Amino acid sequence: MSKTVEIIIEGKSYQLPVIEGTEGEKAIDISNLRDMTGYVTLDVGYKNTGATTSAITFLDGEAGILHYRGYPIEQLAEKSSFLETAYLLIFGELPNKSQLEKWESDIRRRTLVNEDMRKIFDGFPVNAHPMGVLAALASSLATFYPAVIDPNRDVDANYLRITRLIAKLPTIAAWAHKNSQGHPLNYPKNKYNYCENFLYMMFALPVEDYEPDPVVVDALNKLLILHADHEQNCSTSTVRLAGSSHVSLYSSVSAGISSLWGPLHGGANQEVLEMLEAIQKDGGNVEKFVEKAKDKNDGFRLMGFGHRVYKNFDPRAKIIKVACDNVLNRLGVNDPLLEIAKKLEEIALKDDYFVERKLYPNVDFYSGIIYKAIGIPTDMFTAMFALGRLPGWIAQWYEMRKEKQPIGRPRQIYTGATQRDYVALDKRG
Ligand code: CMC
Repeated sequence: MSKTVEIIIEGKSYQLPVIEGTEGEKAIDISNLRDMTGYVTLDVGYKNTGATTSAITFLDGEAGILHYRGYPIEQLAEKSSFLETAYLLIFGELPNKSQLEKWESDIRRRTLVNEDMRKIFDGFPVNAHPMGVLAALASSLATFYPAVIDPNRDVDANYLRITRLIAKLPTIAAWAHKNSQGHPLNYPKNKYNYCENFLYMMFALPVEDYEPDPVVVDALNKLLILHADHEQNCSTSTVRLAGSSHVSLYSSVSAGISSLWGPLHGGANQEVLEMLEAIQKDGGNVEKFVEKAKDKNDGFRLMGFGHRVYKNFDPRAKIIKVACDNVLNRLGVNDPLLEIAKKLEEIALKDDYFVERKLYPNVDFYSGIIYKAIGIPTDMFTAMFALGRLPGWIAQWYEMRKEKQPIGRPRQIYTGATQRDYVALDKRG
């Protein structure tokens, strides 16, 4: 017999169904609550609200577990490639050899961006933040490829849109960087794989030869895999909510990019590096900054610390910390910021304030140091996160549309003025 819970409202008892996930997570299904009782629930920030069921990513914040389609993140980061992981997230299974070859080749031949789109870059100020450019250009894809399709009715057209987006976003991101440098834009070279091509477009100059460094390619691949999905986070929820109105995939992803940009979400990776640099500039007094973070009147937070869901450790941060040491060693980079980061982590993890609130380093804490070591400029960090998160956004959008989920439309509890009459301007105090 299926489980229910009883709620009693104004003395009347109601039975609500319990939904249980495959990993034992439990939820009370309140989808008929308002019809049954006249009540809605209130959960600002959705701290206790499941917005959907989903078969894509499993996350256990207490145990520090992250799985994509059942596969542990540790195994994927070590053994998979970013495009293979993207396929897994979007289509639900690891591809076989011929599926993977087709997938990689379909993406490879769509890396070129329409020349008219290229002209849009000329309209941005030279110091435009790459995330603003990325969001605008992702949105503009909807004007170059305007047909809005129903993924249930036109599977091939949907596949085309997915491969186009994965192929073109790195070109747009690299061009945003090149544009900000005042450098000529590099066209993609399809002899390269996904990561190599991105690095080539980012760093090659017409006056010099360029070959992507395998150590850097490897590090980039790992970082992108670790960012590829994270269930119903802020930007993914934005993508799902925007997409629930049946707007195009491109527009939905553009909304997700804007949401990711904020410093409490993906924008934290840029903030972490800037914070570490500020500590270094200030003389390296880590304790002083820990005290500032604890001072409620200060407003300063330790960027890269804390997570809405992880309350023990962030498994992505664990992998990135090791990768960070490896990459710096293999590239022969000695970055004093890494020492500051390690010291900050050590002090914060022993401090009662952080222990009581279960604040641990998150994925953004060490990723910036690797990005810096591989030559990615600070204002591109969040754009790197966006490239990584793209398959997750697509997978979640696709799942939501395939399941024909209704338009997202939360309720509210109104707390404003009750009805009153309009007062003429000359009668107002
Ligand atoms: N430094 C100092 N205090 C903190 C921090 C921090 N980084 N994070 C949380 N707190 C405190 C906060 O002041 C509050 O204290 P109190 O209970 O005394 O009022 C308590 O911890 C709970 O914080 P919260 O803001 O209610 O927690 P939340 O779940 O709403 O926020 C968070 C989670 C990630 C937004 C927050 O921890 C934060 O702002 N961290 C810094 C930004 C950051 O690194 N963001 C990247 C998140 S991981 C990448 C991603 O997927 O987005």
